Amino acid sequence: MSVILLTGYGTVESAVEAIRAGAFDFLTKPLIDQELEMAIQRALNQQEVLEENKNLKAQLDLRFGMENIIGHDHRMLKIFDMIDSIADTRATVLITGESGTGKSLIARAIHRRSSRRNKPFVEIACGALPETLLESELFGHVAGAFTGATGDKLGKFMQADGRHDLPRPRSARPAPACK
Ligand SMILES: Nc1ncnc2c1ncn2[C@@H]1O[C@H](COP(=O)(O)OP(=O)(O)OP(=O)(O)O)[C@@H](O)[C@H]1O
Ligand SMILES: [Mg+2]
Repeated sequence: MSVILLTGYGTVESAVEAIRAGAFDFLTKPLIDQELEMAIQRALNQQEVLEENKNLKAQLDLRFGMENIIGHDHRMLKIFDMIDSIADTRATVLITGESGTGKSLIARAIHRRSSRRNKPFVEIACGALPETLLESELFGHVAGAFTGATGDKLGKFMQADGRHDLPRPRSARPAPACK
């Protein structure tokens, strides 16, 4: 439930305290009708977005969770147990099997059950890349790092970490302001 606080004795301190305590908005009297209507509308919009987000997450769980992995065989049940026990560790996992046997499906299930679930799941076909390109795909590069590197490129590891741009090299950082 979104809380809109309405008071005749509003101070900046009480407004800050109310918002910190979780109030959606803080209005003071005398109130203009439109103001209240707008606050309510914004609160409703926010709830709609939150609700939508919850539904989308639930759909993702269903799509990439374990629920959609078919298999009753004892070997599959062992895999489900293994997914559960390793999902939230930092262990590196190697999933092997023939093409189309569900390796990607299991990798996604591990991601969905880990605390990294809100960060992107990044897939890369290493076998399809020449050895020389693999390094820059995984770790990224800055413009001019090698012939043909015209712009900065974010590596897959950084993408998976939720980064959007490359950290700037130390020398390019602005010097601290002098007093
Ligand atoms: N146990 C399973 N239950 C439900 N769907 C499955 C299962 N195994 C595979 N699939 C489906 O088969 C298709 C291929 O699976 P997936 O892409 O995970 O295979 P893969 O092992 O990663 O293949 P590749 O080696 O080619 O990357 C997908 O559509 C996936 O949903
Ligand atoms: Mg795959």
